[in-house]
Parts: sequence; structure tokens; C-alpha cells
Amino acid sequence: PGERQENETEKGLRVSDKGFLNTAVLRSEITYIDGDAGVLRYRGYPIEQLALHSSHLESAYLLIYGSLPTKSQFDMFRTEILRHSVIHADAEQFFRSFRYDAHPMAILTSAFAYLGSYYSEANPSLQGQTLYTKGDKASLAVMDKQIYRLIGKATTLAAMAYRVRQGREFVTPPTGLSYTGSFLYQMDYLGQENYFPNPVLEKALDVLFLLHADHEMNASAASVLQTGSSLVDPFSAVAAGCASLYGPLHGGANEAVIRMLISIGKPGNVPAFLEAVKKREKVLSGFGHRVYKTSDPRSFLVRKTADEVFQITGKDELLETAMALHDAAMKDDYFISRKLAPNVDFWSGLIYRAMGFPNDYFPVLFAVPRVVGWLAHWRQMMLQTGGVKIWRPRQIYVGSGKRDYVPLDERV
Ligand code: ACO
Repeated sequence: PGERQENETEKGLRVSDKGFLNTAVLRSEITYIDGDAGVLRYRGYPIEQLALHSSHLESAYLLIYGSLPTKSQFDMFRTEILRHSVIHADAEQFFRSFRYDAHPMAILTSAFAYLGSYYSEANPSLQGQTLYTKGDKASLAVMDKQIYRLIGKATTLAAMAYRVRQGREFVTPPTGLSYTGSFLYQMDYLGQENYFPNPVLEKALDVLFLLHADHEMNASAASVLQTGSSLVDPFSAVAAGCASLYGPLHGGANEAVIRMLISIGKPGNVPAFLEAVKKREKVLSGFGHRVYKTSDPRSFLVRKTADEVFQITGKDELLETAMALHDAAMKDDYFISRKLAPNVDFWSGLIYRAMGFPNDYFPVLFAVPRVVGWLAHWRQMMLQTGGVKIWRPRQIYVGSGKRDYVPLDERV
């Protein structure tokens, strides 16, 4: 106990904040959330306006650079992103080295780290210096080039992770399609020859991409910054973000929602399922959020997009169960008193399913657009006044006091 007290007081006040409920790790100009009012804004622009009028790529520019692009800025940005979507042919061997049933998020996470090995200019360890030097335009250009590469290649890596599991050849990124259209084309996800994306589905996926692009200091963004704060290359930092997103409490929730709905089956089984949730025997995936204490504003936009998609694809058989579950939970005191409401993942999986994507691919459809938010935060951190401060939280030690080593043959 004596040692513990000494440690705890040596650097002033130490706050114990399990799960970072009350810890703000930085000041940010990127995304604003009012969790009580259900407000989400990218750089000041309401998410509803962006979903209606903008595109994923335009919002990406906004998130990263702080303002909506002029036409020429957007054209240049778009050209750079699409130009950098091609992957070196050697990468095919890497993708083919995975097991036939590897989870696509495991493939994508590894692929981001793998990609970094191609770009020594982005690796401060190899260059012997930090990637960005304050006020130095050349180093800023190198940094931005990695941003183009990561956003451009995210769709290609994701499409390769999809096709490799089907034992199919890879498709070179096309020219002349939108960011989302190029992604769908490369996946050729309905398995048709010369597939060109249906414009309604392409637009719907683009809106979903835009809605998933950033959400301030969530677990994966924090992982990117924590990892990036050691000044590692951005490919490795994005791989860390992708790994964090994989979990069922975060980006894996969209996949978990579908598994949950399948396990519930008919709408008539909803009450029994909710009772099991209340007894903590089951998890209500797609509900609850650390920041929102009312409905996630994105969930309304996703629900609206779902209706547009269902007009093309037909209604998903799980929709009725999802609606029954939603309505019952929203009227139940257990969920009301805990301020639990649907988050973005409650409806998104139903759209992906209706569009024909396999369940375990859903988190990948979250990761691809979220690369934008991760990089916006990473760029902001790299440019911050005074340089990057390594993230090194403390702990409260509750283990044993000092003990003396006992040789193996003397231990009882
Ligand atoms: N179902 C049932 N009860 C829940 C749920 C849920 N989905 N979420 C929270 N609760 C309960 C908790 O058990 C707790 O109850 P208690 O006070 O009686 O102990 C109370 O609500 C507060 O919840 P916390 O777990 O403290 O909330 P926290 O902010 O730590 O967790 C989280 C947020 C992880 C999102 C949680 O709500 C959850 O697990 N949801 C289901 C998974 C999910 O949908 N994740 C996606 C989140 S959005 C995203 O990442 C894109």
C-alpha cells in the first residue's frame, strides 16, 4: 500500500475513468455530437443536409480539410483518390494466403498494415524523422498523398477481401465511375459478368458511406490516434482502427444485429427475447450508445435509405421482426429508463443484406468509409500546435505489494 500511495501522488491528480466515460483527450474541429438532442454535424454541417445534398467523397474532403471543396478542389481530390485506387499486382498473393473462410475484417485489417510496407516515404522509422514537419509544405504533401492512397485503396482492398473468399479473380479499379460505383463494380457482388451498379443502390450505399464516415472520438478513432501518437505510419494506425472496429460492441454490431434477428425468428418471439435481454442473458445489438441518450440521428436516415433500397430489392424477410423489436423496445421501461435507442447499426445490416452482401462482410462496409474519419483525426493530430504528444494513459495499480523471487524447486 505504501508504494501505491507514492505512485498515485507523484504526478498530481490522477483520474480513474474506466472506459473513458468522462475523459476528453483532445480539442477537435471535426465532428460535433449533442447526444441528448440527437445532433450530429460534420465541420458544422448537419448530417441531414449532407445526406440529402452531398456525396461521400465531398464529405470526405470536408471532414479532412475543414470546408466544402470548390469544384476544382473537388475534381482534384476525386482524381487523386481514384488514381490511387490501384494496388500492386504482388498483393494478390497476400490475399490468396488467407484461409477460404477467413473473416473479411481480419483480411482487411491485415491488408491495411501490409499496404504500409509498400510506402517507405510514409514510414518515419525508415526515414529517421517525423512524417510531418511543421510549416514544411513538402512533408504535408507526402502526408496528404498517404491519405489519398488509403481512401483510394480502401475500396480495392475491401473488394479483394470479398472476391478472394469466392475464389474469383480480382478486378482492376475502373475509370469513369463514382467512388462507391467503382467499389461495387470491383466487387461485382451479384456475380454478374460486366456488372454495373444499379444507380439507386449505388446512391444508397454512398449515403451509408457518408453517414459512417466519422463519429468523433469513438473506439476505433481513438485507436488510430493512440497508435498514430507513436508517430508510426498511417497505414499501421488505420489497421489499428480497423481492428478496433471489428468488435461486436462497435462496427461488428451490424453483423450481430442480423444474427440476433435470425435467432429471434418471428415477430411473435420478440417479447421473450426482450425478457432475456433484461435478464442479461442476451444482448440487444444495434441499441444503445455511449454518447446518444436519444435516437442516433443517423438511424432515421438509414431507415429512410432502407425503404428506397427495398423498393428495388424487395423487403427483407427479417424487416418485420426488426420493426417489432424496435417498437417493443422503444415502449419498454427497461430501455426507456436507460435511454437506450437504436443506433446506426440497427437498420444498416438489413440494407446490406437486401443488397446481397454476406453477413460477415457488413463490418467491412463500415470500415471503408470510416477510413475517412480516422484520417481526418490523424491529420488534425499531426498538424496540431506543439506537435504530437504520445498517448500514454496511467492506471491504478491494485496488484500485490513487493514480493521476493522464490526458485522453482522451493515453491510449494
Ligand atoms: N441492450 C440492453 N441493455 C443495454 C444495451 C443493450 N444494447 N446497451 C446498454 N445497456 C444497458 C447496460 O446494461 C446498462 O444497464 P445498467 O445501468 O443496469 O447496468 C445501461 O444500459 C448503460 O449501458 P452501458 O453499457 O454502461 O453503456 P456504454 O456507453 O458503456 O456502452 C454500447 C455503449 C457499447 C454501445 C452498448 O450500448 C452496447 O453494448 N450496445 C449493443 C452493441 C451495439 O449496438 N454497438 C454499436 C454501437 S454504435 C457503433 O459503434 C457504430
